[in-house]
Amino acid sequence: MSTSINLHKNELTGITGKESMDILKKTVDEGLWEEYRDLYSKASELEYIGGFPIQLDIELNASCNLRCPMCPISAESPKGKGKSTWFDFNFYKEIIDYGSKNGLKALKLNYVNEPLIRKDIHKFISYAKSKKILDIYLSTNAVLMDKNMCISLIKSGLSRIQISIDATSIEVYNQMRPGGDFNIVKENLNILTKLKEELKSATPLIRVNFVRTDINEHQVKEFVETWSKKVDMVGIQEFIKPTKSSSKVTSKTSSAKRGSFRCSFPFKQLVITNEKKVLPCCTFWGEEMSLGVLENAKDIEKYWNCEQINKLREVHKKGKYYELEVCKNCVEGGMVDE
Ligand SMILES: C[S@@+](CC[C@H](N)C(=O)[O-])C[C@H]1O[C@@H](n2cnc3c(N)ncnc32)[C@H](O)[C@@H]1O
Ligand code: SF4
Ligand code: SF4
Repeated sequence: MSTSINLHKNELTGITGKESMDILKKTVDEGLWEEYRDLYSKASELEYIGGFPIQLDIELNASCNLRCPMCPISAESPKGKGKSTWFDFNFYKEIIDYGSKNGLKALKLNYVNEPLIRKDIHKFISYAKSKKILDIYLSTNAVLMDKNMCISLIKSGLSRIQISIDATSIEVYNQMRPGGDFNIVKENLNILTKLKEELKSATPLIRVNFVRTDINEHQVKEFVETWSKKVDMVGIQEFIKPTKSSSKVTSKTSSAKRGSFRCSFPFKQLVITNEKKVLPCCTFWGEEMSLGVLENAKDIEKYWNCEQINKLREVHKKGKYYELEVCKNCVEGGMVDE
């Protein structure tokens, strides 16, 4: 795998090893997979919208076991913690049933939360798989990813998993991911890799993630070099200033490439929060632009084609994100002058 990180001009994450996504083609209908990737590429270029989002991100619980300083969940535990925030399985099924008949191709099972807090996550994955959703994935801190969890993730048909590590040393990990355990996370990743071999499963593909901040940016190169030999993909995420946080985390990310940034999120996906709010994009700034509340699955089309999201798309098509305060904050808020 190459170790160079190329940030797509319309995205906020650079990924190495993207070619390994082709492995997933062999786990589903190849023609449908090609169609999905083709539409996704067009949406990434802001050239395709379609009648239904290609992807939905669903927040199955609004809680987390860590308190990372760069994440808004560390500022306050949003919307409380625990089972009262759990997304209803029957409503989820309604969404997947409707989505699978109307063009939904991909599903991300988290937003700003820790999805593996739910030990029943496998049933959400299995259901989506049974309805032929092509690409099912999630991002996790992997602290709770023990052997049983790994087996259930593999057997339920999870396509890919993104594991947030953010560091190459315990010291930096502890600053980036307070409450986590660097060694446990690496051990859990080993367990997952071994179990995939034992169960002869090509999935889930494994990507490790790193959010570049002033705490860890001196470790980016080492992180990419170390992990690109061991996992399928490595993601380096641009730091986004949290919506609400007293933390002083920043990043020296170059602003030069941001001037021409056009965001592709509103062309690809909608987020559904645990409170059924519908958001036009998956960074935490999306919460500042809620489109409304989902009463039933059919509402997804209503929100996907509403005036508010169409205006957002127009602004990004023109390359003028800075005209919207929320997008300006999202794109530029985390930068500091070098
Ligand atoms: C909000 S987390 C939710 C999933 C899971 N709890 C995790 O940590 O992977 C999703 C991704 O957002 C990243 N993230 C958190 N704060 C961020 C920030 N300020 N800027 C950019 N990405 C951030 C995390 O590192 C993680 O890769
Ligand atoms: S980045 Fe993930 S693990 Fe860290 S506080 Fe946010 S939701 Fe939790
Ligand atoms: S806030 Fe704007 S720039 Fe940021 S992800 Fe959402 S649409 Fe894109």
